Amino acid sequence: MSLVLGIETTCDETSAAVVRDGRFVLSNVVWSQVALHARYGGVVPEIAARAHIESLNRMVDLALQQAAVAPCDLTAVGVANRPGLIGCLLVGATAAKAFSFAWNLPLLCVDHVHAHLYSACLFAAGSSSPPPAPPSLPAIGLVISGGHTSLYRIAGYCDMQRLGATVDDAVGEAFDKVAAILHLGYPGGPLVDRLARQGNPRAMEFPISLLGRESLDFSFSGLKTAVLYHVNGAGGRQRDVTALTLSQRADVAASFQRAVTAALAAKLRRALERHPVRSVIIGGGVAANSEVRHTMETLGEAFGLPVFLPAPQFCTDNAAMIAGLAAELLRLGFKSGLDTPVVATI
Ligand code: KG4
Ligand code: ZN
Repeated sequence: MSLVLGIETTCDETSAAVVRDGRFVLSNVVWSQVALHARYGGVVPEIAARAHIESLNRMVDLALQQAAVAPCDLTAVGVANRPGLIGCLLVGATAAKAFSFAWNLPLLCVDHVHAHLYSACLFAAGSSSPPPAPPSLPAIGLVISGGHTSLYRIAGYCDMQRLGATVDDAVGEAFDKVAAILHLGYPGGPLVDRLARQGNPRAMEFPISLLGRESLDFSFSGLKTAVLYHVNGAGGRQRDVTALTLSQRADVAASFQRAVTAALAAKLRRALERHPVRSVIIGGGVAANSEVRHTMETLGEAFGLPVFLPAPQFCTDNAAMIAGLAAELLRLGFKSGLDTPVVATI
């Protein structure tokens, strides 16, 4: 049996978790800093790093307490050391290295984006239903988050080949920007999702950028600008969203969401046509979106493939996915040195 402590501080969530045998989540404590950043309309890196310093020890204590696990019971410590905001990564990595050294535990530094794909393997311990089988590999993985939009071929959790990625905005970032244009608040993804349910997805034909016939990359900046010009007028400065009725705003949200979902589905379809695989795995905060979930499941059915979508609490940033991937890498024979650096970009 393995018991891994996971630490996640890549952006604006301070999270610690304990995962048994790489799959069973005994605890997953997430402190969201949203309230600290809301007045700025986005994450302020320096504020985020300071808040991680202030709260991380408390999150680790809580995670151990809720899992009823003492440090001496642990098998390893896992931490996300890439990619993310550099000051934030440093806080988590430094703490994990200190725990590893003080408690004499192996350290596993993991890629946060890969961990989003691993989150489909997680299962809340204590749940009444039996755990589903984990995804069969090889799989096509799609990470759709606030910072990343990438397609992978997953041969193993230490063998992920990136097939494509966004050339400009990440998909979650596009949701957040459209929410800002519509004056919905921050973070905007869940608010656009909710408003879109009341709107007509065919009301506007926003552009879907496919970047040519062969490309597996994504682009969302043209779509975001099209929404801005539609709402605020040409040049984006003539009026604001108060000129629209509630139902017109809902139509914008629904039409934007349809365009985003169509772009994601088109690239996933291309990847599946080129790479024979046994399953599809979706991860990242936008995987919590109701229309995205439904569309991906339908696409998987068309290819006769099971689609693995993490439970909503494991879609957004969380330490359980870090602990889970760390356990899997430990099982495969990996370990990280205390001199492992943090890396801001992919
Ligand atoms: O994975 P995540 O926590 O952060 C990164 O690793 O970047 O994803 C956060 C992103 C935010 O942009 C948020 O607006 C978006 O996920 N999000 C959603 C939904 N829930 C969260 N976007 C669309 N629909 C949702 N229901
Ligand atoms: Zn993330």
